[in-house]
Amino acid sequence: MEKKIKKAIFPAAGLGTRFLPATKASPKEMLPIVDKPMIQYAIEEASACGIEEFIIITGKYKRAIEDHFDSAFELEESLKRAGKKRLLEEISRLNQLNFAYIRQKAALGLGHAIYCAKPFVKDEPFAVLLSDDIIDPDDNLLQDMINLYRKLNSPVIALQQVLMADINKYGVIEGIREGDSVYRITNLVEKPRAMEAPSDLAIIGRYILTPDVFDILAGVSFGRDGEIQLTDALHGLLKKRPIYGYLFKGKRYDAGDKFGYLKAIVDLALKNPKVSEQFKEYLVEVATMIKSSI
Ligand code: UTP
Repeated sequence: MEKKIKKAIFPAAGLGTRFLPATKASPKEMLPIVDKPMIQYAIEEASACGIEEFIIITGKYKRAIEDHFDSAFELEESLKRAGKKRLLEEISRLNQLNFAYIRQKAALGLGHAIYCAKPFVKDEPFAVLLSDDIIDPDDNLLQDMINLYRKLNSPVIALQQVLMADINKYGVIEGIREGDSVYRITNLVEKPRAMEAPSDLAIIGRYILTPDVFDILAGVSFGRDGEIQLTDALHGLLKKRPIYGYLFKGKRYDAGDKFGYLKAIVDLALKNPKVSEQFKEYLVEVATMIKSSI
């Protein structure tokens, strides 16, 4: 029987090596995009889709994430006294949500991070959001995936077409197109070389999974990059049940990478009413300067 998606897992225990030294003692997930940390975008995205329980996988040096989503009595009182109602509302809205934190003792890979949430998820289907993949807040990717899950009663993973030059950074699928944006997956490979990639359809950081993936994850051994890979578990699950891919055509930023992070900041600042006008003027100034220097 189809069940409602009430729980979401946010793996945030990775080492963030692409962002060193910034991530040596502070979490990558707390790097700000304009005025919110990356992970808040993912939390708000899930909350907008009716998720009720937010399970964050943390690790060493990740305490700031828990503090960010906790209530902050002194700060809230001070905002109240200063009459800063809007800010107060924005700050306290987050602590109304139900958070659970699970510590992944060592960064053994995304598959292992998700496996750590097994006792909290129990026998329900659930969403997984990687917060360093930022989806434009105007897109409805997760909601579309939840709707597709309801229709097919099968796991759904988000896909995006990427350049072959970048394919070795992703899990990649082979599949049969069954609708405008829907693929029935027939194979998955983690970080293939371009010549071995079965397609240009890369797995991006949004998943709707079913609890039977935990049984497979329990038996997955260390794979690509010496990590327990979620892609390997999905490969195993595919032998037992259909898995679908949903091709996302909107805007995604790979904010775990410096260039993707900078692009996210520019685009989201241009959408932010508090800074957009001023920032646009500044960008025009910069662009003019660059043009005149080449
Ligand atoms: P990444 O592949 O981006 O790895 O993980 P990373 O460690 O965060 O960053 P780099 O590659 O070293 O720069 C994708 C997501 O999975 C989480 C990360 O926190 C990130 O959200 N993750 C990864 C875990 O929670 N645990 C792990 O063992 C690995």
